[in-house]
Amino acid sequence: MQLKFEDELIQRAMEAQRKAYAPYSEFLVGAAIRTSDGAIATGCNVENASYGLTMCAERAAIFAMVNHGGREIESVVIVSRGGVTPCGACRQVLAEFGLNYPVVLVDSETGAVQARWLMRDLLPGAFRLSN
Ligand code: THU
Repeated sequence: MQLKFEDELIQRAMEAQRKAYAPYSEFLVGAAIRTSDGAIATGCNVENASYGLTMCAERAAIFAMVNHGGREIESVVIVSRGGVTPCGACRQVLAEFGLNYPVVLVDSETGAVQARWLMRDLLPGAFRLSN
C-alpha cells in the first residue's frame, strides 16, 4: 500500500477508535477500509449489556463499506491498544471481500505499525462464495 494512503487510513481508523463504545472491556478498536473505488469506510466496536451482542470494529467497518456500495477491499487498518489481530469472526467476514489485501495492525498508544498481514494468511482455507 502506498504510504500516503496508509497514513490516511491510520488517521481514519484512529478517529473511529475514539468513537468506540466499550464501557465493559474498555478496549477501544477502530478500523478503516479502503476499497478499489478509493472510498474509505470506518467502524468501531460497539458493546452491549448483553455481552454477546457486541460488534467488533472490523465487522462494523465492513458493513459500512457494503452500505456505501463498496465490494473490493484494497487495504485494511485496525487500531487498538497493542495492535491486536482481528478475531476469527471478523477474519471470516473480511475474507468475503478479498484475500490479497494487506491488513495493517497499529498500536494506538504509539501510532506504530505492529504487523502487516496478507488477508489470505490470516484465514488459510477460507470458506468463500466459490465454495
Ligand atoms: N474487538 C474488536 O472490535 N476487534 C477485534 O479484533 C478484537 C476485539 C472488541 C470487541 C470487544 O468490544 C472488545 O474489543 C474486547 O474484546
